[in-house]
Parts: sequence; structure tokens; C-alpha cells
Amino acid sequence: MKKNRVVVFTGAGVSAPSGLATFRDPDGIWARYAIEEVATPQAWAADPEKVCQFYNERRIQLGTVQPNAAHIALAELEESFEVQIVTQNVDDLHERAGSSAVLHLHGELTKVRSDSDPSYLKDIEYSTITTQDRCPKGGQLRPHVVWFGEAVLYFDVALEHFRKSDIVIVAGTSLNVYPAAGLILEAPSQAQRFLVDPGELEIPQSFIHLKGSADVELPRLCEKLKKK
Ligand code: OAD
Repeated sequence: MKKNRVVVFTGAGVSAPSGLATFRDPDGIWARYAIEEVATPQAWAADPEKVCQFYNERRIQLGTVQPNAAHIALAELEESFEVQIVTQNVDDLHERAGSSAVLHLHGELTKVRSDSDPSYLKDIEYSTITTQDRCPKGGQLRPHVVWFGEAVLYFDVALEHFRKSDIVIVAGTSLNVYPAAGLILEAPSQAQRFLVDPGELEIPQSFIHLKGSADVELPRLCEKLKKK
């Protein structure tokens, strides 16, 4: 029998129980760093050392943390559903938990690419780069992350997944960053919709809000969906 399609849209809150900071909570990353100094093409042009250091620190930290019960529950949901993860997260915790279909709209922390050769992409796992590092053709290596002002990756592919979904789960995102956040409005009207987040968010009424931490609420929701 054909499995129902679940599209899961995740943000930093899903990785928070693993120990990775979110961006816009009071103790979040953007309370400690200015976006325009570390996460824009202008920042890269003005002070690449600082930008490298920012992402090096986050990449090293990523190597020290583990997927939590939220990531694991979503990976296990594949036993009963066709699951597509669409994430704004640059960490690799969905993959490490075992999810087989993950689209990273904002790039991947464990990869670097060439500033000048679009075909050059390299997995560096949890290591660091310096501003001296180059691709074989001489282009400077940069973090494979989407900065503010740059185009989101795989947007059209993600859009198709939302449009074909039977169930949409949105978890751990403040829905502040567009165009990614707009994707959740693209599900068919008959799709079931759930939102997992401990905060108050402005979302369409069609979403059922499960108010709590992702590592508690997502395993609960996944169990319920499997039993239906
Ligand atoms: P935000 O920091 O904007 O939002 C995090 C959300 O997670 C908030 O709604 C919190 O209430 C929620 N949250 C906190 N703890 C949680 C928990 N334990 N369980 C579930 N939810 C929890 O992060 P994002 O929405 O992911 O982009 O941010 C989107 C983008 O903005 C990021 O991908 C990044 C950032 O700037 C770029 O850098 C381009």
C-alpha cells in the first residue's frame, strides 16, 4: 500500500535539546553576534577571518553533540510514512538520527564550497577552515551556508514536496525567515497540519499547536500518527 506523505519543516528548536542554541530566543545566537558581521556576503568580504571563526566554532560544537529524541522519532517515522524533512538547520543531526530524505534550505555546516567554482563542494565534517584554504582551481573556500541576501537552496524541490503532502509538521522554527517560512502555506487544504513549539507563534488556524519541547512533543506526535 502507498504510504502517506509527511513533510516536516524544522528549525533550530529541534536541535536545541541536543545543546545547539537557537537564533532568536533570548539566549540565541543573534543575541551574541550581529547578523551583518557574520552571516552576509558583505561580512565575508569585509572580515572573512571573523566569519570563518564563527562557523568553525559552530562546526566544532556540532561534532560534540548528538541527535535527540525529536530527530530519532522523525527518522523512525519512515517505518510508516514517506517522510521528507525540509530543514532550515545547517547541522547534520537529522542525518545522524537516520532520516534518509533531508533537504537543507540554508546549507550544511559540515561542507565548504569554492567562492569561484560552483562545482566544488567538500565535506570537512567537524574540522575548521582558514582564509588561506583554496579549492584545486585556486578559489577561496567558504562555509556552505546560505547567508542573508543569498538564494535559498532547493526551494522549488521543497515547494513540490509541500504541495504533495498529506501531513505537514512544523517544528522549532520562529517562521521569521523568508522565503523558507512561506513554504508551510503551500500544503493542500486537506493536509493535516501540526506545529510543535514551546512559544506563541502566529500561525494559520488550520495548524494544531502542540506546545512544548520538540524532544517531548515530536515523539508523542509520531507515535500517534503511526497508530492511526
Ligand atoms: P529561531 O531561533 O528563529 O526560532 C527557534 C524556534 O524554536 C522558536 O520558535 C522557539 O520558540 C523554538 N524553540 C526553542 N526551544 C525549543 C525546543 N526545545 N523545542 C521546540 N522548539 C523550540 O530559529 P529558526 O526559525 O530555525 O538562517 O531560524 C531560521 C533561520 O534564521 C535559520 O536557519 C538561520 C537564522 O538566521 C540563516 O542563518 C540564513
